[in-house]
Amino acid sequence: MFWKTTKLDLICYPPMPDHVARPWDAADEYILERANPEEKTLIFNDRFGALAVNYPEAKLWLESACARIAAEKNLGRNEIASQPDRWITHIEPDTRQILIKAPKDFEQLQFWLHLIQTDCPDARILIAGMSKHIPISWLTWLEAHCAAYTQHPIQRKARLVEVGGPNISDKCIQLDGYHWEELELLATPGVFGRHHIDIGSRFLLETLAEQQLSFSGRLCDLGCGNGLLGFTLKHCHPDLELVMTDDSFQAVESARENSKRNHLDATIVHGDTLLNTPGQFDIIVCNPPFHDGHRQLTNFAQRMFEQSARQLTPGGQLLVVANRHLPYPALLKQQYRRVQVVKQNPKFIVFQCSLAKHTKENTLA
Ligand SMILES: C[S@@+](CC[C@H](N)C(=O)[O-])C[C@H]1O[C@@H](n2cnc3c(N)ncnc32)[C@H](O)[C@@H]1O
Repeated sequence: MFWKTTKLDLICYPPMPDHVARPWDAADEYILERANPEEKTLIFNDRFGALAVNYPEAKLWLESACARIAAEKNLGRNEIASQPDRWITHIEPDTRQILIKAPKDFEQLQFWLHLIQTDCPDARILIAGMSKHIPISWLTWLEAHCAAYTQHPIQRKARLVEVGGPNISDKCIQLDGYHWEELELLATPGVFGRHHIDIGSRFLLETLAEQQLSFSGRLCDLGCGNGLLGFTLKHCHPDLELVMTDDSFQAVESARENSKRNHLDATIVHGDTLLNTPGQFDIIVCNPPFHDGHRQLTNFAQRMFEQSARQLTPGGQLLVVANRHLPYPALLKQQYRRVQVVKQNPKFIVFQCSLAKHTKENTLA
């Protein structure tokens, strides 16, 4: 898609439905208008690389595997040479300018600001997002916790705030979490279900526990978050070979921490759907996302169902929990010969899907 303001050509990755398929927004344009291209720059949370293509020398802090793929594609598309050290997970102290696309979760913003305060406290920080996604409470907090604070006027529904000298408590970077059965599940800010067990995931686990089942073989927790689903099943069935994967780097780091804390072995991989977890699986468990940032979408779940169908063993099972209002039965039926409702309540449904008409014995009844 041609971006008139910058004369660049950008796409979305993964491809999005037409009504949301614009890889930049007015907040990107606002940042570009106010940022200084001469300064050594670090960019956070650039979902499709709209800022990266305008700052070819900048370092990128992207926690989402899909965002990294999108940025790579858009840099390549615009013939911007690839830099081997472009992706970073620590802040270089000589960084002068930091551009942040506001995340959905305020705790994640606080976490990044704390890292900035530790590693390059004098950097100029520009935070932008659509104004409906940056509530006044965030602004009040930023003003109270930063030595310098300037709020620019709203422009084409986008908000831009410039801050400096963040002074943020260490509490904002601590692991937090909950106990579930005998497990301790912690996570860094921004990870799904960080503070409480998700009620959909709980419904799935309780449903699986009620069934006469004996899981065996190779199991993947797809979109693992803190690892709740995979670790619970591994705890009950220690012989399982557990693989976990998530798009979020912080989720993967949190799951690794939980693997150690709970003494449960797992291969834990950062990636988009199952693209970085090769091989076949006997069981895939999934509570699929239905948001990408603030966009509500079913194409993420659909891609997970498609990729799972490619990587299930012939007798394998995909176990999915979903909100009842989502159109997943039709999406699942496109990929699987057998789609059964294992249990439902007024809010959620648990599906068991397989490629073969007759599934392996020894799994769900
Ligand atoms: C609804 S949460 C479930 C988390 C965890 N399984 C639980 O039950 O608490 C969905 C998870 O999918 C991850 N996710 C989103 N898009 C993904 C993708 N393309 N590939 C892999 N994981 C993805 C999110 O980061 C999030 O952790």
